[in-house]
Amino acid sequence: MSIDKRTKVKELFISGVVGSEVIVKGWVRTKRVSKNVAFIALNDGSTINNIQIVVDFANISEENLAKVTTGASIKVVGKLMESQGQGQSVEIAVKELTVLGEAHPDEYPLQPKRHSLEFLREIAHLRFRTNTFSAISRVRHSMIFAVHSFFNEKGFLNIHTPLITSSDAEGAGEMFQVTTLDFDNTPRTEEGKVNYAEDFFGKKTNLTVSGQLEGELAATALAEIYTFGPTFRAENSNTSRHLAEFWMIEPEMAFYDLEDNMDLAEEFLKYLVKYALDNCKEDLEFLNNRAKEEDKNKPQNERAELTLLERMQMILDNDFVRLTYTEAIEILKRSKPNQKKQFKYLIEGWGADLQSEHERYLVEKHFKKPVILIDYPKEIKSFYMKVNEDGKTVRAMDILFPGIGEIIGGSQREERLDVLLGRMAEVGVPTDEMDWFLDTRRFGTVEHSGFGLGFERLMLFVTGMGNIRDVIPFPRTPKNAEF
Ligand code: 4AD
Ligand code: MG
Repeated sequence: MSIDKRTKVKELFISGVVGSEVIVKGWVRTKRVSKNVAFIALNDGSTINNIQIVVDFANISEENLAKVTTGASIKVVGKLMESQGQGQSVEIAVKELTVLGEAHPDEYPLQPKRHSLEFLREIAHLRFRTNTFSAISRVRHSMIFAVHSFFNEKGFLNIHTPLITSSDAEGAGEMFQVTTLDFDNTPRTEEGKVNYAEDFFGKKTNLTVSGQLEGELAATALAEIYTFGPTFRAENSNTSRHLAEFWMIEPEMAFYDLEDNMDLAEEFLKYLVKYALDNCKEDLEFLNNRAKEEDKNKPQNERAELTLLERMQMILDNDFVRLTYTEAIEILKRSKPNQKKQFKYLIEGWGADLQSEHERYLVEKHFKKPVILIDYPKEIKSFYMKVNEDGKTVRAMDILFPGIGEIIGGSQREERLDVLLGRMAEVGVPTDEMDWFLDTRRFGTVEHSGFGLGFERLMLFVTGMGNIRDVIPFPRTPKNAEF
């Protein structure tokens, strides 16, 4: 180990040689002063565990020690020792301590105590420095890495799809417009409409709501592809499960029918959950305990039946239940909360759109297993889904998870040009601007399928956090684009 290089705290815990001289750098979490020594808990982001720094008063000036406060950054040169304290394997006896950057206690907003998640959202620029958010950040990284590993192992190609587009992939009209037009002086056509011919791209454009349509172009040549990018939705839903900017993973596969699609999605989710359990053990244990503590403050009927780690194990141990929308409606109609009018949205009959309360009832109360719902009424699904022989339902699939509701949405795609054109006309998707998409059906069309996994919904599941604003570093929600 070169003497002027810092060692990561994580490495010291794994393979540090007791007796060797080490350099660590990081941020002070706490300082405790006793008679002749001070104990500093130092964190450098490499692990949830702080390393204990022991400073003999003989080796530090009073003035210098006073600057070692919560949030200050320091460099420590010292000797790695076996720890006396409980639960710590090693600690560092200081030879030389340098304060790199002070954090004045009267000004630094993070104190060594439990802050509410709401407060931490207001100081999201600093919340990486808490145990909770550093743990979430490491798990998030691991999940990003696992997504790419999974598809790479299967020979899928990662495709970058555009963020600026002129189409509405979901046909739901929830788009953020992208323009360089001057609002105070917009160019007008003769009919008095905004003249987008003069806009930057020469037409009306928006931020993408999904990379799927471009994904289909790639899949109908490269066979198996996936995208993993940010998507934007201007839906005004201020819930704990919706973001205006979220990340989505969208695999798209030629020659896959709905059955193959479900198999892939189930294998994918199990792979991700297992990857987290295998690779993020310490962080998950921390988050597991955190969720247990939170639960204690909740009323009995709102407490989770299973712990975070138990819920994750439950995913691995069970085949996902597969059933049709029609079967689900029957179960929901007869369910207690529906009979007793406890659902906010009562299920009257076939055709109703399912709300998160219904999805969660099926998963958490009825089956107690993850559920894949298929064959939804075409009226409540997007235009590109393959129409079943009954003419009423489409080959859609939604995967429902405990505590989350919908985590994946996908379908087999309508590959028949005439049927697709019919559907687009029915729901009013303009076909003239979608010629490029329709070419996949005109030339060498094939059966194909795909789905979208909401990355932050996955993050909710594997961290046990209750609000989607806490599993993305800088959440964008209605009336909030701070930082
Ligand atoms: O069900 P959605 O809208 O499906 C699509 O966008 C398809 N193009 C996917 C495909 O077949 N390639 O969205 C897919 C997933 C949802 O299941 C959910 O997990 C997540 O994206 N999602 C959101 N996550 C956070 N905030 C939002 N506002 C979300 N909207 C959807
Ligand atoms: Mg959906």
